[in-house]
Amino acid sequence: MEESIKKDFIEELNTIVSAQDLQNLKSKYIGKKGLITEKIKNLGSLSPEERKIQGKALNELKNFIEDLIKGKEIEITEKEISKSLRKDFIDITLSGKNYYFGGRHPVNETLLQIIDIFKELGFTVEEGPEVELDYYNFEALNIPKDHPARDMQDTFYVSEDIVLRTHTSPVQVRVMEKKSPPLRFISPGKVYRCDSDVTHTPMFHQVEGLMVDEDISFANLKGVLVYFLQRLFGQIPVRFRPSFFPFTEPSTEIDIGCIICGGKGCRVCKQTGWLEVLGAGMVHPNVFKFAGYPEGKYKGFAFGMGVERLTMLKYRIDDIRLFFENDIRFLRQF
Ligand code: DAH
Repeated sequence: MEESIKKDFIEELNTIVSAQDLQNLKSKYIGKKGLITEKIKNLGSLSPEERKIQGKALNELKNFIEDLIKGKEIEITEKEISKSLRKDFIDITLSGKNYYFGGRHPVNETLLQIIDIFKELGFTVEEGPEVELDYYNFEALNIPKDHPARDMQDTFYVSEDIVLRTHTSPVQVRVMEKKSPPLRFISPGKVYRCDSDVTHTPMFHQVEGLMVDEDISFANLKGVLVYFLQRLFGQIPVRFRPSFFPFTEPSTEIDIGCIICGGKGCRVCKQTGWLEVLGAGMVHPNVFKFAGYPEGKYKGFAFGMGVERLTMLKYRIDDIRLFFENDIRFLRQF
């Protein structure tokens, strides 16, 4: 009797492949209402001797079935694990998704270099508003009402006395109104002019500089600016040309030897061998007057430069509009 149950069980067990079927088989034989369980329950109706023999045999059968089921359970779990491992296999040798690193915009890169060089020389950084009063942009810089720079063609007027600043020079006056010499700062920022072609955009960046104390001379101007240009461009020749700005006297424009042709003459330097890179001069007494400084007490020099222009020269870019189109193929080169 037990032998035939055993045989049936083994036959059924051999056909089982899923955990659910195994569970059903287990219930069928040794569950609460299982075959073996029922038989054990029925032992009570037997005679004591019979009960002893049957009981022992049933217990052994139950243990036997339990052991085999446990073994099968382990077998099935292992199969399922290795099946899911095969299915969810991750090939770590495949190449990953491409992530691109951002980079600094070339104009910002130049700007940061400029700031670094002047910081080493003890200059601080000051800022001023981009929407500026006519007074600071022109009047206080000794630019008279009939000056051509005030023409609507160059200046974006917000209202009669408010403009988008056309240069960073107004920061000179704003800082001098608040602070007394010694002063030594640069002021980087955006400026706006009604102009657009290969070398001009309606918005571009300038860096202004100002150094004021009781005994500043043109020699200080030369020393600081030659040092600056040679730090930025390497050991290039530098020359000073007389020029005119309403807010400086004397005024100068500063050229560097053409970095494209080495001074021989080319398209970029218009065959002159020189490139203009800075405007500068000794602060005009009228500007000190507008700032409220006592007459004759202070001297100083100021300078201004266009950051896009310097960047174009540094990286040999011949169209300023590339900086603002933000074509990723262009920007990624830096
Ligand atoms: N503000 C002038 C411009 O936009 C540049 C400049 C020239 C600034 C001479 C200065 C300076 O401070 O002294 O063209």
